[in-house]
Amino acid sequence: MISPHGSSQLNSLYVNDARHRSELLLEAQALPALLLNSAAAANATMLGAGYFNPLKGFMNLADAVSCADKMETTEGLFWPVPIVNICPDVDAIRGASRIALRDPNIEGHPVLAVMSVDAIETVSRAQLESIAHPLFATSDSQHPGVATFLALGNHLVSGTIEVLNFSYFQADFPDTFQTADAIRAEISQRGWKKVVAFQTRNPMHRAHEELCRMAMERLEADGLIVHMLLGRLKSGDIPATVRDDCIRKMVELYFPENSVMISGYGFDMLYAGPREALLHAIFRQNMGATHLIVGRDHAGVGDYYGAFDAQEIFLSSVPKGALEIQIFCADHTAFSKKLGRVVMMNEVSDHEKDDFILLSGTAVREMLSAGRAPPPEFSRPEVAAILMAYYQQNVQQ
Ligand code: ADX
Repeated sequence: MISPHGSSQLNSLYVNDARHRSELLLEAQALPALLLNSAAAANATMLGAGYFNPLKGFMNLADAVSCADKMETTEGLFWPVPIVNICPDVDAIRGASRIALRDPNIEGHPVLAVMSVDAIETVSRAQLESIAHPLFATSDSQHPGVATFLALGNHLVSGTIEVLNFSYFQADFPDTFQTADAIRAEISQRGWKKVVAFQTRNPMHRAHEELCRMAMERLEADGLIVHMLLGRLKSGDIPATVRDDCIRKMVELYFPENSVMISGYGFDMLYAGPREALLHAIFRQNMGATHLIVGRDHAGVGDYYGAFDAQEIFLSSVPKGALEIQIFCADHTAFSKKLGRVVMMNEVSDHEKDDFILLSGTAVREMLSAGRAPPPEFSRPEVAAILMAYYQQNVQQ
């Protein structure tokens, strides 16, 4: 099976050993506590679940700056996104060498992880902006990722962590949340060798479905893992429970049995486009995928990124040998009125602009918000029914 990123074995930071867990839980009750923000809690969950292998915890300022500027840690590990714990107030943990990290997303704020503190550093607004700019390719505070990042606070708490649970992800998505270790085990058990991962934050429309089918066929893959984001999104995006239902229905009805694993990871969307695509590749390699699909405007938002910037960064900026996972690059997929099916636009040279219906998650959300069911070119009817039911019950029109 493909090696994890940066090490020969996957070293998840979740504490499996029962006795050590109880010791840590006991210790945590007496430790100074830091209430995490959602972004840091998501980072801890990803570290715990093995997705951020081989990192051992939260980065210090030098590593964060190095990852933002050069896409590598100060030790030279390829890493495109700073994994940080930035917070507004460190009074309660000043001088402490061990602290309990508490979960902001669960009532009562249970302990999510125990940290050995390396450093508590002050970060100025200018320093935060100088990290945000290369990461998001903008420092525009209208960008949802930039806005979240700049509002985290001005103290950076770094150090190794031991993770005690997977936050709300395991309880809320028991059938979908999986750790990288669990996915590796399932890939082995299924006997898959060539494994395609599909990143999504959408309820898989026809464009997504056909993209997966094309990748599977062209790569002659043994299996596909639809690996959906289960954490926070910007407002207006469709909640994970609804997306999960849609994806399960679509896979059940339109993919061959046993060809698809439906899975999810506990992370908040960054909307960092190309940089997030690189992070996506790292954590799909960590879970055992050999290929990642990267299509149009991968992990993008608004008009901040060029449609294929996320593909180009793999060619222009990944040092040779830094990643083992390969990218399946897809052109814009659209519905061809001429052919009556979804195609990659660059593969049908006889088509004019008007021969296509452009498919996008944004277009589907707009239709649903206007009370219209997406037509079959956009969504499978069974998926459209789930989406309509959600919008009618929950979204004001
Ligand atoms: S993302 O933020 O998770 O990338 P989304 O769930 O919409 O958003 O996309 C999942 C994957 O499908 C990404 O690789 C994206 O580039 C690709 N994709 C989505 N729609 C299209 C499309 N119409 N044409 C080509 N690729 C697409």
